[in-house]
Amino acid sequence: MLEITDLTVTYPGGAEALHGVSLSVPEGRITTVLGGNGAGKTSLLRAVGGLLPAYRASVRSGSITLDGEAITSLPPWRLVRRGLAQVLEGRHIFTDLTVHDNLVVGGQGMPRTELAEAVERTYEQFPVLREKASTSAGYLSGGEQQMLAIGRATLKLPRLLLLDEPSLGLSPLMMERIAVAVADIAARGVTVLLVEQNARLALSISEQAVVIANGNVVMSCPAADLLDDDTLSAAYLGGGIATG
Ligand SMILES: Nc1ncnc2c1ncn2[C@@H]1O[C@H](COP(=O)(O)OP(=O)(O)OP(=O)(O)O)[C@@H](O)[C@H]1O
Ligand SMILES: [Mg+2]
Repeated sequence: MLEITDLTVTYPGGAEALHGVSLSVPEGRITTVLGGNGAGKTSLLRAVGGLLPAYRASVRSGSITLDGEAITSLPPWRLVRRGLAQVLEGRHIFTDLTVHDNLVVGGQGMPRTELAEAVERTYEQFPVLREKASTSAGYLSGGEQQMLAIGRATLKLPRLLLLDEPSLGLSPLMMERIAVAVADIAARGVTVLLVEQNARLALSISEQAVVIANGNVVMSCPAADLLDDDTLSAAYLGGGIATG
């Protein structure tokens, strides 16, 4: 579905964040990318999502294909047309708009009845958003804002969803809710590439695990293998995850 081959990414000044990363993301499933701080997880998502130029970074070599077509270095607006949605750092919601209007913005261009159904589906997924439908998004808690960001990005169900640490800074209960929602989105056929530090929870909803260290893939296996194998979990999930 998404194929990344031998990807090398450099930031200004020549700092290389990824050195020849290859991975294959299976359709309609969740793939979790693990790795310590600075490992290159966010850079990988930026490369897929066409956001490297915003950081004056670029793909030095390698390729990214979506459904067999090259998407390397395409700008974000063209990727949206190919069915990509992303919730990266910061929670890209419109704080001055109500919760409901934020969702409607996410459904731009949808026929009215389809939009109403999608908004309803999102409220079922995140009941707290229905309760706060007419509240300004800026007044939501961090967890609620994250739910809104995910709800907005998936209002028009994308082909591929990129999520960078959606549980960052949230309470265990909120993390759990987000995980359930992401699993539900994947169950609707959306392919998910998820970066998470909360490895166990992420792996529990994932098909595949990829571990990155120092800009290299050091491990790629079924998520269950990483959870079930004592040696592997000690190495990668122990008191945290392998650093750097
Ligand atoms: N805007 C930038 N300019 C220069 N170097 C950068 C920039 N962003 C990231 N890097 C470098 O690229 C490498 C990978 O960083 P990246 O943010 O991709 O890691 P990460 O795995 O997402 O880390 P974290 O868990 O802390 O979010 C690091 O060495 C980092 O310093
Ligand atoms: Mg990061």
